[in-house]
Amino acid sequence: MEAQKILSRFCPKTPSLLLPSHKKLHTLPYVGPKNLGILRLGCSYTEGKKKRVFCVRSTVEEEEAKVVKVGATAPVRRKKLAVFVSGGGSNFKSIHEASLKGSLHGDVLVLVTNKPDCGGAEYARNNGIPVVVFPKVKDGSDGLSPSELVDTLRSFQVDFILLAGFLKLIPVELIRAYENSILNIHPSLLPAFGGKGYYGMKVHKAVIASGARYSGPTIHFVDEHYDTGRILAQCAIPVLANDTADELAFRVLKEEHRLYVEVVEALCEERIVWREDGVPLIRSKDNPNGFC
Ligand code: GRF
Repeated sequence: MEAQKILSRFCPKTPSLLLPSHKKLHTLPYVGPKNLGILRLGCSYTEGKKKRVFCVRSTVEEEEAKVVKVGATAPVRRKKLAVFVSGGGSNFKSIHEASLKGSLHGDVLVLVTNKPDCGGAEYARNNGIPVVVFPKVKDGSDGLSPSELVDTLRSFQVDFILLAGFLKLIPVELIRAYENSILNIHPSLLPAFGGKGYYGMKVHKAVIASGARYSGPTIHFVDEHYDTGRILAQCAIPVLANDTADELAFRVLKEEHRLYVEVVEALCEERIVWREDGVPLIRSKDNPNGFC
């Protein structure tokens, strides 16, 4: 009801809707002045936290053509993505390929890296995606400050940031500027085997040494610490009796590619909803009342 109240202040003529109390992200048809070009008003609301009101507008025909209908819900705008990598970039590549193929309703507009020579950066350059260096590289000749990075991402009108093997801590300036809009993929079932020092092969070696029988990727929202943000999606795969770290890493990475694409598809289609206690959920594509 709180979201309804907030929206009605912006759009007094909007008919009153009884919204289920567990839903925290709402959009309503806008029935105010036509010349503003607003189609729908949206409001995300979390108990006791910030309220964000936004409008979905389309003033020109061209822009309307870019709007597609996803499922039975309101049309959604194609999203603008930034991907951050430090290494080979195989997750970045699978997301980019899904975008080109059309299953993903978004485009990678910019790649951010702390290693301008890494495989991910090379793939971006080969595919005409601008590469931005962050933070400054050691000799100081290249690289942006946190506030320059925020400005750069804003200049690309980036909606969401996807960390895909980016090994630097995300500065608080970026987390504030992109609240609940930054995802990371981690190669273990968090909260196990996460945090500072758990990256790459170290994660898989620790999983095997612990005797854990299951591992697999976790996708989570990013906060100011390593691997502690809210978990959005996971996929468990068995750890086999004779697994080496390389073998386990290979099977986990395969699942990462599938899971990250599925989650980013949901993100771009605005199918992420926030449960009352702050846990993010993915609404199913086929059943608007079900969750993945
Ligand atoms: C992945 O295992 C991911 O979970 C972790 O870093 C690795 C990146 O691999 N955060 P790639 O660069 O996408 O191949």
